[in-house]
Order: sequence, then C-alpha cells, then structure tokens
Amino acid sequence: MHKILVTGAAGQIGSELTIVLRKRYGNENVIATAHIKRPDEALLESGPCHFIDCTEINMVAEIVKKHKVGTIYHLASILSAVAEENPQFAWNVNMFGLYNVLEVAREYKCAVFTPSSIGAFGLTTPLDETPQDTIQRPNTMYGITKVAGELLCDYYFRRFGVDTRGVRYPGLISYKTLPGGGTTDYAVEIFYEAINQKKYTCYLKAGTCLDMMYMPDALRAAIALMEAGPSKLKHRNAFNVTAMSVAPEDIAAEIKKIIPEFTLDFKVDPLRQAIADSWPNSMDDSAARKEWGWKPEYDLECTTKDMIEHISQKHKIKTD
Ligand SMILES: NC(=O)c1ccc[n+]([C@@H]2O[C@H](COP(=O)([O-])OP(=O)(O)OC[C@H]3O[C@@H](n4cnc5c(N)ncnc54)[C@H](O)[C@@H]3O)[C@@H](O)[C@H]2O)c1
Repeated sequence: MHKILVTGAAGQIGSELTIVLRKRYGNENVIATAHIKRPDEALLESGPCHFIDCTEINMVAEIVKKHKVGTIYHLASILSAVAEENPQFAWNVNMFGLYNVLEVAREYKCAVFTPSSIGAFGLTTPLDETPQDTIQRPNTMYGITKVAGELLCDYYFRRFGVDTRGVRYPGLISYKTLPGGGTTDYAVEIFYEAINQKKYTCYLKAGTCLDMMYMPDALRAAIALMEAGPSKLKHRNAFNVTAMSVAPEDIAAEIKKIIPEFTLDFKVDPLRQAIADSWPNSMDDSAARKEWGWKPEYDLECTTKDMIEHISQKHKIKTD
C-alpha cells in the first residue's frame, strides 16, 4: 500500500484525522508532519512523525520520497483571523505550501486532498443556499488564498493529471484540539466556557448565521472523497459540504437544554464580524451528495450533547 502523508498534523483537523487514518490504514502507513506546534503524545506515539516547513519544497519532497507516499492530506495553513492580522505571512504559507505539495505530488504521482473553506466566498456571492459554482470574490487574504488554491488544484488535475480533491469546509466544531485562529472559533469556545464559567461573551453578533460541522463528519468527508471512484467526480476540488447553519444564540439555546444556568452575551470584534458577514449563511452541498454520497450524521443537538460530554470528561466536571 502507498503511504499517506498528513501536513499540519498538530492542528485542529490534523490531530484527529491522523489518528482516524492510522486506525483505517495502519499506524505505520500514515506519516504525520508538524511544524512548530508539537502534536500530542497519542499522535507522536502511534506512528511516524516528522517536523517540516511546507514552504520548503525539499522538506516536503524528502519525506514523500523516503516513505513512498501515495496520498497527501495537506492541512498546513494559516486560518482566517490570523491571516487578516498577517496577510503576507498567510500568503506565503497558504500559497507556497500548497504549490510545493502539488509540485511534489506531480513528480512523485501522489493524490492530494486540500481543504478549502466557506472563506472562499465573498459579499457578492449569494449568501443563502450558496451554490457549488458561483461568484467568488472574497475580500480577505484567507479567502483569496483559498480561491487561488481551489483553482491551482483544478489546474494540476487538468494540466498534469494530479489526482487533486477537496471540500469547502464550514466552521468545524471539535473538542480534541483547539481551533487555530479562525472566524468560527467561537463555536468551540462557547462549549468550554459554558462548562467552566456558565457564561460566554461572543465576538460575533446575534443573528450571524454560518455553516458548521462536527469534526467526525469532517473527517468522514475527507476520507470518503479520497476513496470515491474518480469517474463520478464532475467537480474535484472545493465541494461545498455542510451539516448545519447556525447563529451563536442557536448554539446557546441548545447548551441551555443541558446547562440551564448558561448565559450568552455579545462583545463584537469588528475584524471577525466583517469576515463572518462576507461568508455564506448556508451552503448548498447537493453536488457533494450527488457525486460522492456526502451526508452529515451530526446535527446541532447531537453535536452539543457530544461536545458537552467530552469536554466535561476532559475537565472532570460533572454537569448533572
Ligand atoms: N478548522 C476549521 O474550522 C476549518 C474550516 C474550513 C477550512 N479549514 C481548512 O482546513 C485546513 C486545516 O485547518 P485546521 O483547522 O486544522 O488548522 P490549524 O490552524 O488548527 O492547523 C494548521 C497547522 O498548520 C501548521 N503550519 C503552519 N505553518 C506551517 C508551515 N509553514 N509548514 C508546515 N505546517 C505549518 C500549524 O503548525 C498548524 O498545526 C486548513 O487549510 C484550513 O483552511 C479549516
């Protein structure tokens, strides 16, 4: 079997995807790579791990060659809020990192999974039921790198036959690893604060509807797309995928069913609010459903129950 390489393995998605891939394909077959942030012990002890900077093409090429890698899950990236604070840095990591991965994949004939994001849309995109193929004029550096990345992946497939595939993830909710500086981070923070403080101050205003997804669905989406028969894929990169469209008060209402004393208030951060306002309220993911059978399993109610259970266990706090 060809081996699998995960970049950004210490991140919110990578820390969980690596473990799921190892369970599915065997520990030794999944090579984790991290950068400055050190992965947790479970990841370090369960299989091979290297530290690389994906903006250095030789580092990427060396690992792919050494381990005879056949598939790359490229998750190394700078997220939306951090990218807006340091756009030059974000361009460098998001664009040159992806370019290097695609070039190495071209040379060593690897398949590549690259996540795009709801951030690839902008204010002129239809914000409700956002179609798969539509106007994409993002006004953030993160969004610009995501659109350019989608196009670059399509180009490498058409021009060089590299098997590139990807999804546009919505905001991801998870309890294992804290998010890395995105606009939807509140949807994770709110659970920690609900359990520890019984209150949360949200940096997005009430009524800000965004697509979200629970991490187990996000991991299933990535693996299902990479395992899908290529003949069915009309699109290859940037499939819209979503599980729910929610505003902060919707999550708060669901939390209150389990923690009745929980309260939510708001102190808007203009930077992140502006980013959120330029993103869809809800995406149409029918292309993913039709072309490779995408279907989420977790709605807001299941996600909330699972998040509270796991974070409470983590913090050894009883909520009942
Ligand atoms: N988490 C979400 O809600 C979300 C939503 C939509 C899309 N995505 C996309 O999914 C991918 C992974 O996101 P995530 O949430 O796991 O991000 P994250 O910030 O949690 O992790 C990214 C990782 O990339 C690493 N990294 C940064 N610079 C690097 C470099 N030069 N070389 C190698 N590694 C480097 C960081 O150390 C970090 O561990 C990204 O492309 C992101 O845009 C995430």
